[in-house]
Amino acid sequence: MDSRIAANRRLWNEWARINQESDFYDMAGFRAGQTSLKPIELAEVGDVTAKSLLHLQCHFGQDTLSWARLGAKVTGIDLSPEAIARAEALAKELGIDARFLCADVLDPKALGDAQFDIVFTSYGALNWLPDLGAWARVIARHLKPGGRFHVVEFHPIISILDEDAKQIASGYFNSGEALRFESTASYAGGDHAPIESFEWPHSLAEIVQSLLDAGLTLTSLREFPYCVHKCWTFLEESEPGRYVVKHHPGKLPLLFSLSARK
Ligand SMILES: C[S@@+](CC[C@H](N)C(=O)[O-])C[C@H]1O[C@@H](n2cnc3c(N)ncnc32)[C@H](O)[C@@H]1O
Repeated sequence: MDSRIAANRRLWNEWARINQESDFYDMAGFRAGQTSLKPIELAEVGDVTAKSLLHLQCHFGQDTLSWARLGAKVTGIDLSPEAIARAEALAKELGIDARFLCADVLDPKALGDAQFDIVFTSYGALNWLPDLGAWARVIARHLKPGGRFHVVEFHPIISILDEDAKQIASGYFNSGEALRFESTASYAGGDHAPIESFEWPHSLAEIVQSLLDAGLTLTSLREFPYCVHKCWTFLEESEPGRYVVKHHPGKLPLLFSLSARK
């Protein structure tokens, strides 16, 4: 395994534990039956009853299990053994039928020849992937003909901003070079010894083009002037469940959603 992906796995093993215990992920609400899915993906993915759904980078399984609660036959895949162990335990505890697999999403052999009606990924997934060409080919390979791909993701504009969202801290375009970070806490809180990790910026055009190059047909692309998670300190809540940049409310794209068909 690439040493940078192995470093990311160490980080996500730590963050899976912290995140599942955090207020950010509201496990009490989830255990009581609340969905972790947001209105954007619920509207775009639509009715999933009896559909097979592959969730890429499923973390500890909240969204995967939320799709299952809506009637989908779900498979979640994630790099972190800790996240997958927690997802499996959560499914068992809640009596939800789900399959989880621990693997790098860019490993073309991880899922064999399995094909799904829907492939889904969201919020903080793409920045961990060095090669979107390989990612898009995995999606195309695991969709049935006519199957749909949906992503709802933080807009790449966010990643260029500094901590106060006042200056440009890093480039918009992917130079191929990984950005190295050293974290001592997750976006959901907690404290831990420093762990290094690596991320790759991907422009909107790079994301769209990788899917087109893999043979998928783009069916929608939307940008949103708000975020649905308060993952950055420069965001403040403008109305329930919607966060904007304090000094630029409504002026920057903070999320995008994309749908494509095979
Ligand atoms: C921010 S989380 C996913 C977001 C998800 N919407 C959530 O909040 O539950 C990112 C996930 O990507 C996973 N990940 C990172 N790199 C990966 C890779 N190369 N293959 C598979 N999973 C990966 C991490 O282990 C982590 O669980």
